Amino acid sequence: FVPRLLAGRKVVLTAGPTFEALDPVRGITNISSGKMGYALARACAQAGAEVVLVSGPVCLPVPADVTRVGVTSALEMRDAVFAALPGADVFIGVAAVADYRPLASAEHKLKKTADTLNIALTPNPDILAEVAARADGPFCVGFAAESRDLDAYAEGKRRNKGLPMLVGNLVSDGMGGDDNTVILYDDAGRHPLPRAAKAEVARGIVAHLAGLLPPRGR
Ligand code: PMT
Repeated sequence: FVPRLLAGRKVVLTAGPTFEALDPVRGITNISSGKMGYALARACAQAGAEVVLVSGPVCLPVPADVTRVGVTSALEMRDAVFAALPGADVFIGVAAVADYRPLASAEHKLKKTADTLNIALTPNPDILAEVAARADGPFCVGFAAESRDLDAYAEGKRRNKGLPMLVGNLVSDGMGGDDNTVILYDDAGRHPLPRAAKAEVARGIVAHLAGLLPPRGR
């Protein structure tokens, strides 16, 4: 039995990595598997929400009752998020979005012509920060994966992006595997959840965010 904590709500999530093309066959990406984001999408749907999952390139089945929008790059992810946002009560950024993309993507395969190859990069838009900055925007939940100093970096990201809630995890705990150890950060402080399968962690995140969500029609 799953409590219908999000009945009547619309949730938009991002999950997985983004892939920033250098040429037709190569690019910059990261090792996010999408498992945490897909588990959270499933938990939101089981809690009664209408769910749109904007997903970077991963090999995972789409959870039941979830609408998946597949994207490749951060720019595509941003466009898909803003297209899905009307009517959303909650936005959750689980994706590991590439902070930079190549300034130019070559039309044809790059050839090996020198010992050193320099690639110019340009910053990607911060999708979560843009959604959180919207007047009358949805309740925003961020994620932060850190390799050290989790409390300081995670709470710093929450405050910089103006988020009511953020989920922090260590890369070594959460990236790629089936389990995760997370700490939830909100205005009341830090709330550690026990290490568990990502499905169980996702249910804990949903319960916490449902408790912070303003009533409908606010
Ligand atoms: O996919 P898995 O293998 O299951 O791994 C799960 C996970 C470790 C990727 C996940 O739990 C996680 O922590 N995701 C966030 C990764 C991260 O470090 O994000 P960030 O610190 O770069 O960004 C902070 C927040 O801003 C995130 O909510 C991110 O989605 C968002 N962001 C960041 C950059 C950007 N250009 N746009 C964004 O929306």
